[in-house]
Amino acid sequence: MPTKEFQTFLQKYPAYKKTESIDALRKKDYARLDDAEHVYLDYTGGGIYAESQIQKHHQLLKEGVFGNPHSSNPTSLAATHLVEGAREYILKFFNADPDEYLAIFTSNASGALKLVGESYPFPNGRYLLTFDNHNSVNGIREFAHARGADVTYIPVMLPDMRVDASQLNLELARPSKSGNNLFAFPAQSNFSSVKHPLEWIEKAHAHGWDVLLDAAAYVPTNKLDLSKVKPDFVPISFYKIFGYPTGLGALLARKSALAKLHRPWFAGGTITVASVQGDKYYLAEGATAFEDGTLDYLNIPALEIGLKHIESIGYDVIGERVKALTGWLLENLTSMKHSNGEPLVRVFGPTSTEGRGGAVTVNFYDKNDKAFDHRFIENEANKVNISLRTGCFCNPGAGEVALGISRVELDVCFTRPEHEDRLSIDDFRLCIDGKSSGAVRISVGMVTNFNDVQAFLSFAKGLLS
Ligand SMILES: Cc1ncc(COP(=O)(O)O)c(C=O)c1O
Repeated sequence: MPTKEFQTFLQKYPAYKKTESIDALRKKDYARLDDAEHVYLDYTGGGIYAESQIQKHHQLLKEGVFGNPHSSNPTSLAATHLVEGAREYILKFFNADPDEYLAIFTSNASGALKLVGESYPFPNGRYLLTFDNHNSVNGIREFAHARGADVTYIPVMLPDMRVDASQLNLELARPSKSGNNLFAFPAQSNFSSVKHPLEWIEKAHAHGWDVLLDAAAYVPTNKLDLSKVKPDFVPISFYKIFGYPTGLGALLARKSALAKLHRPWFAGGTITVASVQGDKYYLAEGATAFEDGTLDYLNIPALEIGLKHIESIGYDVIGERVKALTGWLLENLTSMKHSNGEPLVRVFGPTSTEGRGGAVTVNFYDKNDKAFDHRFIENEANKVNISLRTGCFCNPGAGEVALGISRVELDVCFTRPEHEDRLSIDDFRLCIDGKSSGAVRISVGMVTNFNDVQAFLSFAKGLLS
């Protein structure tokens, strides 16, 4: 018998009914979630794998004999066949024309970002990026600084944490004329879950920018169609989409943009010829030039299994489910009030489901409007087997805006002599005058159900006074 709340939920979000196939799948393929009474709400941190993915992968390993690829012996050829098959499948999954795009295997999205950062021809150029970015995108600025490029950040604005479009348009309209220009933004924020407009890609191209679209937080619940949008560099991590295996990501790169990159070194597997006495090397063509050493050839075949798993569910179904559950979570959390009428939470990001994904980032406040420490919330959630994430989620720019930490405070903190080389998180907290240094992120994903969200809401209710 459905509860009254579930009936109300279905009335408000009738599309959720169309995602019932996921409930059946969860029973069969993700039973361990409920068997162990887990409330998993950290899908932006990592996806959850289905048992069938593991079984299929293990079956393949049990039956096959695979050697180090790229040789002509039979076991090597068997591995090459699977690795190249996975590469093709990845391009197909993202609707990328193989004449236009390449898939380069990396160990995660950060590895893909580093490949771009260390190889991009920055001298005399510009690196433009949004405040809202993961640290692995922020980190590219160090390569840009080192090579004398101008680095410019575009702020995001409270309360929705979207970008100031007029400022972005101004910056896009003034690329460097004497160097290369790289513009980086996330398709979906891992802090506020804002979906930034993909229309920016063509706008940037029109002014001569190369575009790095960080799709790591977007592709677990949204279809990225590279026949419709054409970013130059797209980093992803596969465990975020389908949970297994960890340790594999990809850089999807447009061949024309890839041709601009200059790798700062060579390694086993990346060259056609390298000479010791001749002090010379020649890089291989295409993806090979960017894949250092031996590929993870036993795990790469699990990617095709994972991608097929997602296709069997369908992004439209995943999207509907995430939207309905996020809407319910947002409306219920924001309506919770202490006995004196003070709200329990403040949401950092959009409070409706428009133009946002399934992560809800908040801080909790007591009835005197004093924030609960995010570490306290995490500890309390741990006690009832709820997995959520707290802190700044490696996105300091969004965090600084959300938590009201100013440039002046940061300058004062970072220029203290004792902070020249080292700064602990506790000292940083002192610097920002006791302001909250983090938030609480609840993220729903592909196999979240209504009960998971209700369990979190009932936990939140327990914080009311
Ligand atoms: C938006 C975004 N970009 C990049 C990354 C980095 O991914 P990884 O840690 O797998 O390299 C993450 C991880 O949380 C992310 O959310």
